[in-house]
Amino acid sequence: MAAAAKFWDGIAAKYSRTPIRDIESYEYTLGRTRSYLSKQHKILELGCGTGSTALLLASSVAHVTASDFSEAMLGIGRDKAQAEGIGNISFRAIDITTPNDGQTFDAILGFNLFHLVPDIEAVFADIHARLEPGGLFISKTPCLAEGGLGLRFGLLKFMLPVMQLFGKAPYVNLFDIDTLESAVTQAGFDVIESGNYPAKPPSRYLVARKKS
Ligand SMILES: C[S@@+](CC[C@H](N)C(=O)[O-])C[C@H]1O[C@@H](n2cnc3c(N)ncnc32)[C@H](O)[C@@H]1O
Repeated sequence: MAAAAKFWDGIAAKYSRTPIRDIESYEYTLGRTRSYLSKQHKILELGCGTGSTALLLASSVAHVTASDFSEAMLGIGRDKAQAEGIGNISFRAIDITTPNDGQTFDAILGFNLFHLVPDIEAVFADIHARLEPGGLFISKTPCLAEGGLGLRFGLLKFMLPVMQLFGKAPYVNLFDIDTLESAVTQAGFDVIESGNYPAKPPSRYLVARKKS
């Protein structure tokens, strides 16, 4: 995975300056996510990027572990936490395709991440193992095998193999919403909330509870 992390290291600074594409959808799902969290919770965000969401959620929980496999993304996140004076967050290198260290959490979050790995079943099994009984798995995932991608994303999908060949795009797993939700339930979760935010291209927001 070292090569994959290098891709994200290379775009970290630009990524941190890029505005959120659909702010209304982002704020809606941020609010929904907050509604499931409590001041007692220890939470883990996987693939946190530069930590923007983790920093916004920090005041709603006891502690956030914000993780990513890109050291450049984590570095920007640490600087932002320091600049904003947020103390209950720690940034940690975690590659979601490698086995976990046994530490458990009340909730695990992953946004715009799971379409970037080939084996979502293995990743969801690992998340299940990292959660306390009844713990929450909250995610948002672009489902790029669905129709209705719109012109821009339809073209991007078509161009993907060429962009990957020249190191201009990461690995992308193209699956639909049913495949994603089946993988979540088969890993041992009940889906308790779902929706597409944004609807185009469909980005599936899922709140799932670990079955006890
Ligand atoms: C599209 S960005 C999303 C960042 C953030 N979650 C957001 O919604 O803005 C994907 C992030 O996932 C990270 N990532 C990709 N593959 C990963 C892996 N195998 N393990 C951990 N992080 C990964 C990248 O470094 C990048 O920061």
